[in-house]
Order: sequence, then structure tokens, then C-alpha cells
Amino acid sequence: MKLVIAPDQDTACAHVADMLYTCCAQNPAAVLGLATGRTMERVYGHLVRRMHDRPVNLAGCTTFNLDEYCGPVARTAQSYRAYMQHHLFRHLDILPTQTHLPPGDTDDVTAACARYETAIRAAGGIDLQLLGIGHTGHIGFNEPLSSFASRTRRVRLAPATRTQNAEMFGDCPDDVPQHALTVGVGTILETRRAVLLATGPGKAAIIARVTEGAISPMTSASALHFHPDCTFVLDEDAAMDL
Ligand code: GLP
Repeated sequence: MKLVIAPDQDTACAHVADMLYTCCAQNPAAVLGLATGRTMERVYGHLVRRMHDRPVNLAGCTTFNLDEYCGPVARTAQSYRAYMQHHLFRHLDILPTQTHLPPGDTDDVTAACARYETAIRAAGGIDLQLLGIGHTGHIGFNEPLSSFASRTRRVRLAPATRTQNAEMFGDCPDDVPQHALTVGVGTILETRRAVLLATGPGKAAIIARVTEGAISPMTSASALHFHPDCTFVLDEDAAMDL
């Protein structure tokens, strides 16, 4: 696991945006694994500016997001599909058929999750996986006790995660869906390259636990010690407990 410590949040986000840009610029058939959350908003802002300044042909590019809320919310403005559309996809020359999110509104969860895994494999696997981190140590929505071999599936969100993500739901944790679909830890470990971005003092404790603590399913992100090519990009605030 490599660590990059940037002087501030904006530099950290720009660094990660550069990694995504370079991946697309060097490989016309790039397969990106994308993430949501407030941390990523600035990354996508930088990426959109880079793509506008020096356009890259994205016609052969494919994206797969990590997760989506379950239920009717997956069709609303609070969904991760809407988040991705707002912060990234609508600014890029990319077709809806090139972008994938787990279908949170499906009636047949098992079949839909298996199809998502198949689609990732059919695309050739993920070249660069972007990851944020939750206060529970989750990557995607792999909450504590997720198996390191887990695959795309339905999960129950931890209370701390529902509190962390309440902003999009009128600051009311009870209104955050109880379940989500997420790719698994095993799915993430198979990506060719992974970059985890954490910024701000609120992430310092979990970053110290993940990088220096026990490798344990209690902290899903600690599985990244087993990833063959993983970089943590932090700002100084997120790195302050190291
Ligand atoms: C959600 C996403 C995670 C992401 C996390 C970080 O829980 N499902 O994939 O890592 O948000 O959120 P933030 O960037 O808002 O701290």
C-alpha cells in the first residue's frame, strides 16, 4: 500500500482527478470504478475541467459505480445515479449505456447482483478503482464484518453510515434507506489498481486504524493491504494521526 500525503484537500483531489484522467488518456478502453460521497465532488470537478481543457475520447470507456441505495429512492434525486449524473456524467461526452450503477430498485436482487459482476468481467475488469471511506471503515457500502471474499450484494447500512450520509436526506438519518447494493470487498480486491481518497480531520482516526491497525473484516478498508496496487491519497488533516 502506497501513501501520498498532499498539503491540502484541493491538492489531494486534483491528484486523484489526474490519475483518472491519465487512465482514460492512456487507454481508450479504460474501465473505471467510481465512487460517491462528498469527498468525490471536488475530484469530479477537477476531472471535468481537465477533460474540457484537453478532451479525451471517451467513446470506448466504461464506468461501474460501487453502490446504490435500495428501493424507490434509487430513481430519485437522492440516488447515487443522480449524484453521478449531476457531478460527472452530464459534463462528459459519455452515453448512459457506458455508465453502470448497481440497480437499487430491482425486484430480483440476487440476479441483478450476479449480472453486475458479470458485466464488470465482460468489460475486462476494472482498470482503476476510486474509493472513499466511511467512518465505519467501509469501502463501497461494505460495512464491518463484510467478508474479504464478498461480491455484489444487498447490505444493511450501519447506523453510523446512515448518520454520515443524512445530509442528502434533510439531515434525518431515519430517512436514509436501510439497505443498499454494493460491490463486494472481493470485487474491489480484483481491480487492477485502486486509489482511496480521504480528506479532513474527520477521517484521521479511521485512516490510522486502516493503515496501522489490524487487518480485519471489522474494518473493510483494511483488506486493501492485500490489494496488489493500492494508493491512499490523503490530505494532511486525514493523515494527522499517522
Ligand atoms: C458513502 C459511499 C462510500 C463513500 C462514503 C464516503 O457511504 N457509499 O462509497 O466512501 O460515502 O463519504 P464522504 O465522502 O461523504 O465522507
